[in-house]
Amino acid sequence: MRLSWGASAAALAASASAASLADVCTVSNVQSALPSNGTLLGINMIPSTVTASPVYNASAGMGSTETYTYCNVTVTYEHTGKGDSVVIKYAFPKPSDFKKRFYVAGGGGFSLSSDATGGLEYGAVGGATSAGYDAFNNSYDEVVLYGNGTINWDATYMFAYQALGEMTKIGKVLTKGFYGMASSAKVYTYYEGCSDGGREGMSQIQRYGEEYDGAITGAPAFRFAQQQVHHVFSAAAEQTLDYYPPPCELAKIVNATIAACDPLDGRTDGVISRTDLCKLKFNLTSIIGEEYYCAAATSTSLGFGFSKRADGSSTSTTPEQSGKVTAKGVQVAQAIYDGLHNSKGERAYLSWQVGSELSDGDTTWNNATSKWEMSIPSTGGEYVTKFIQLLDLDNLSDLDNVTYDTLVDWMNTGMVRYMDSLQTTLPDLTPFQSSGGKLLHYHGESDPSIPSASSVHYWQSVRSIMYPHLSSQDSLKELADWYQFYLVPGAAHCGTNKLQPGPYPENNMQTMIDWVENDVKPSRLNATVSSGTYEGETQMLCQWPTRPLWKSNSTFQCVDDKASIESWTYSFPAFKVPVY
Ligand SMILES: *[C@@H]1O[C@H](CO)[C@@H](O)[C@H](O)[C@H]1NC(C)=O
Ligand SMILES: *[C@@H]1O[C@H](CO)[C@@H](O)[C@H](O)[C@H]1NC(C)=O
Ligand SMILES: *[C@@H]1O[C@H](CO)[C@@H](O)[C@H](O)[C@H]1NC(C)=O
Ligand SMILES: *[C@@H]1O[C@H](CO)[C@@H](O)[C@H](O)[C@H]1NC(C)=O
Ligand SMILES: *[C@@H]1O[C@H](CO)[C@@H](O)[C@H](O)[C@H]1NC(C)=O
Ligand SMILES: *[C@@H]1O[C@H](CO)[C@@H](O)[C@H](O)[C@H]1NC(C)=O
Ligand SMILES: *[C@@H]1O[C@H](CO)[C@@H](O)[C@H](O)[C@H]1NC(C)=O
Ligand SMILES: *[C@@H]1O[C@H](CO)[C@@H](O)[C@H](O)[C@H]1NC(C)=O
Ligand SMILES: *[C@@H]1O[C@H](CO)[C@@H](O)[C@H](O)[C@H]1NC(C)=O
Ligand SMILES: *[C@@H]1O[C@H](CO)[C@@H](O)[C@H](O)[C@H]1NC(C)=O
Ligand SMILES: *[C@@H]1O[C@H](CO)[C@@H](O)[C@H](O)[C@H]1NC(C)=O
Ligand SMILES: *[C@@H]1O[C@H](CO)[C@@H](O)[C@H](O)[C@H]1NC(C)=O
Repeated sequence: MRLSWGASAAALAASASAASLADVCTVSNVQSALPSNGTLLGINMIPSTVTASPVYNASAGMGSTETYTYCNVTVTYEHTGKGDSVVIKYAFPKPSDFKKRFYVAGGGGFSLSSDATGGLEYGAVGGATSAGYDAFNNSYDEVVLYGNGTINWDATYMFAYQALGEMTKIGKVLTKGFYGMASSAKVYTYYEGCSDGGREGMSQIQRYGEEYDGAITGAPAFRFAQQQVHHVFSAAAEQTLDYYPPPCELAKIVNATIAACDPLDGRTDGVISRTDLCKLKFNLTSIIGEEYYCAAATSTSLGFGFSKRADGSSTSTTPEQSGKVTAKGVQVAQAIYDGLHNSKGERAYLSWQVGSELSDGDTTWNNATSKWEMSIPSTGGEYVTKFIQLLDLDNLSDLDNVTYDTLVDWMNTGMVRYMDSLQTTLPDLTPFQSSGGKLLHYHGESDPSIPSASSVHYWQSVRSIMYPHLSSQDSLKELADWYQFYLVPGAAHCGTNKLQPGPYPENNMQTMIDWVENDVKPSRLNATVSSGTYEGETQMLCQWPTRPLWKSNSTFQCVDDKASIESWTYSFPAFKVPVY
């Protein structure tokens, strides 16, 4: 039987921070802290599954050199009447380190985070969930189909948002009981993640908004259908234009674009801080005829399942490449940057900013025919086979008979089929906003995987849906009180960019904690340059929709520029339903 909230917990409360880890890190203390069946509707905790064991001086968090001492807890729950089984694990800092915080880390690709220790450096309890499909071992794309034609909807909803939401709700109750806090006490609850982790964060504030005080979401992989099919677009553009550029030619086009557009922002530092000015002022055709050269190379790439799956990895050899940039090569690059349109010329999606790497367009060398051939990135290929065609195949084998209209159809099918699960674009964040939630959203401006304009579009959707009757200035002001968006000049996908030595924000959690707990509202975002001429420089990034403009080699202003903002503004008439 469950111990009730009573004598032992109350005694602990009196001395919670004086307690040692060994005092609180016991099966019985965790069992007594579990939410009782019926309090979190639909969630039945199974006390007999609780494990609790102290972990001393362990290294925690990816890349962290600090060591932490915490209580490692696991527990299983089921959904009422369903007979399923969801394992969650939590890491509780030792009582003297606990700062009344709960922290949720995002995953990436098709994986949720399997590490519960990411919050320890902030004195926060953290958690991770098996999501009911053994997500600690499986990537969701491996379980999305039971077989050809049959979608695993349980796994889909759990991956989409439910598993993290439940892990957080249970974790907050557990945290209060574990440390003997009053059930009405505040536990500051944070989310942090990038890429699919950014999408997961958006899913949390869209679906469980009142649970979170602060969310930091980078380069969210949301608008999932459009985003995943967009990964096939580069290959489709090459097929449509019947030109398969040597990768070196595309790389040269990117390098030459960076060189040409770098100074447009007022400082020549190897970084296009204003891709909008590049789009408005630079014509890619001026690169035609420039020489390119790349040495022969052998490279190994990991499969899309990252560390969880070895079979997607492949080794490829490319020969030495040299030549001059062709008109066809520029045409392909321009088409990719322009984004997908249907055969009527109606826009279906946006694309990467000019100057972003064109890695999805990389062709592969066929040694037998001595030709460059189409390569379909499995990020997009697998989405089409499994999620659209419902075939249990890891990649598309070809794009035979696939046109731009086919891609639009795929996007439409995916959007409609997964509208209330994976799409993750609900633009009404009222429950989050009205319960005091703060959102810090950022995106590398030269992200070659998830277009930064995708984030801008969501920001615009939230603004127009939540403040339809306010003037432009007023809605901007209201929004900035709780939702701030930052583009990171030159940055790639969830990290710095080897082609553009720009700044990257490194201490977002500190900014967020100050905002949530100390009411220090940011107006700029602290970022540091980690390579190149300006290595070590701090740049306080401009909050969208203002844009940086360098006034000298050491200072920039955040300016309002209507033409620039318009260049980031899209509508998608190829779809009949609104695309938020
Ligand atoms: C809650 O319900 C589950 C079954 O759904 C059961 O195994 C468990 O013992 C219940 N917990 C308590 C405290 O009764
Ligand atoms: C953990 O590290 C601390 C400080 O270095 C040390 O005093 C303590 O003995 C260590 N504990 C264990 C269990 O290794
Ligand atoms: C945490 O506990 C689980 C369940 O007992 C165990 O499998 C896991 O290895 C433990 N993790 C650490 C880091 O000790
Ligand atoms: C899943 O991984 C955990 C460790 O991360 C391991 O203890 C467990 O046995 C694995 N489960 C399966 C079904 O492979
Ligand atoms: C592009 O620039 C990078 C350095 O910024 C360089 O390593 C690479 O070789 C260049 N590629 C081409 C094709 O010029
Ligand atoms: C770029 O230059 C080409 C060739 O001069 C021209 O055909 C094209 O219209 C220009 N594009 C833009 C967007 O100005
Ligand atoms: C490519 O083909 C050439 C002969 O045309 C051969 O010498 C070479 O070993 C082949 N390379 C690979 C990686 O198969
Ligand atoms: C996906 O399949 C296509 C066509 O067979 C192939 O060109 C491409 O290399 C594959 N991608 C991956 C990542 O395996
Ligand atoms: C699923 O469909 C694919 C494509 O048609 C086929 O290759 C595969 O054998 C099918 N799998 C099963 C288990 O029938
Ligand atoms: C492609 O379309 C042509 C003409 O419509 C048709 O004959 C062919 O069978 C199609 N190929 C595939 C693979 O669907
Ligand atoms: C910016 O972040 C760096 C560390 O990343 C820190 O040293 C510095 O104090 C921060 N500056 C501001 C103004 O927050
Ligand atoms: C600014 O930097 C550029 C490029 O490094 C340099 O050529 C220029 O002289 C610098 N300007 C000033 C005023 O120092």
